[in-house]
Amino acid sequence: MTSNITTMQNIKSLRDIDVEGKRVLIRVDFNVPVDSHGNISDDRRIRAALPTINYCIDHNACSITLVSHFGRPKGKYEEKYSLKNIIKRLERLLQKKVEFIEDFEHSKEEIATCSLERVFLLENIRFHEGEKKNDPELSKKLASICDIYVNDAFGTSHRKHASTYGVAEFVETKVAGFLMMKEIEAFSKALEHPVRPIALVIGGAKISSKITLLESVLKKVDKLIIGGAMSNTFLRALGYDMQASLYEEEYIEIAAEVLQHARENRVKVYLPVDVVITDSIESPIDVKVVPAQDVLENFKAVDIGPATVKLFSEAIELSNTIIWNGPMGIFEIDKFSKGTFKIASAIADSYAYTIVGGGDTADAVDKAGEADNFSFISTGGGASLELLEGKILPGFSHLDHKEEEQ
Ligand code: 3PG
Repeated sequence: MTSNITTMQNIKSLRDIDVEGKRVLIRVDFNVPVDSHGNISDDRRIRAALPTINYCIDHNACSITLVSHFGRPKGKYEEKYSLKNIIKRLERLLQKKVEFIEDFEHSKEEIATCSLERVFLLENIRFHEGEKKNDPELSKKLASICDIYVNDAFGTSHRKHASTYGVAEFVETKVAGFLMMKEIEAFSKALEHPVRPIALVIGGAKISSKITLLESVLKKVDKLIIGGAMSNTFLRALGYDMQASLYEEEYIEIAAEVLQHARENRVKVYLPVDVVITDSIESPIDVKVVPAQDVLENFKAVDIGPATVKLFSEAIELSNTIIWNGPMGIFEIDKFSKGTFKIASAIADSYAYTIVGGGDTADAVDKAGEADNFSFISTGGGASLELLEGKILPGFSHLDHKEEEQ
């Protein structure tokens, strides 16, 4: 049976077509994190799109129009979500002038005029109501300003929106950009041709958002290492009283089933043996390390403890492929960050092929100073999760195929 990843690898990429003299529309994901002053705090996603943009420039595309969303506006203009905010950084990284197009419908002719060297950036496409509704009218309008559609927005490729999905139906030539292909290659290496043993290190707040992943990976991985608030629900399933810790009551039974399925599939599951607990997350006075079954009354587990770090690190050291999604605790707060940072270092120090998915986790890897020591850091949060779940991402599904599948 052809896997989702093999299907997506069979999509045509920019390298398979000729862009010379063509108007190219590139869907990028410039949804970058910004601080409270609106300054870009991590431009990885912009940098990740440069190879595709530069390839089109170097291969004499007659115009290049970049389309992206930024944040979650409600279908109308909001200044803080304007892509004008990122244009300076884009120009600096691209070392090229980028022309900002506030209303692409009114600037159609300008964009359509072939003139080498021109790069346009359209205003946040989510200011159009039709974007999230995948409105065919908006898709057609976008299609009308290009000859070739390139999807390179891996981070948004799990969305069925007009600019990520619908538009491809109305363009004759539609291919994936280099970032899309690079992401698929990285996940293919980890999931299709892994050097075993393969470990999934999973964390974050909720089982509910990762249940499909948990169930689908049990047939693929050898070890499941579970931390973060999500592990509280598993510990509850083992009968531990997690007191005031965050856990999902309605998922306790499901957690027990996951543990049972793991046993049936001979997947080794690692859960915290000790945890960092606190009387308060916002203003902690009392912070202690206790065995996972001894959380004190009114206390919350907020990080994995040192014995767990040791246990998880040993399991990590003995793995040859490691996929990490989700922090081990509330790493944004200094006092509760040790577990996440130590696991980041343990994974970085291993000799394994290491891959990180999820905005939070990538941020944690950065803060731990380990970003250069991972084999691959995905630009996708939700998208990488859906890829791991075995889905074909909508951003790929309308693109041209290299050959007919068997
Ligand atoms: C992301 O940051 O995960 C992507 O840019 C998608 O954004 P969205 O979750 O607002 O669709």
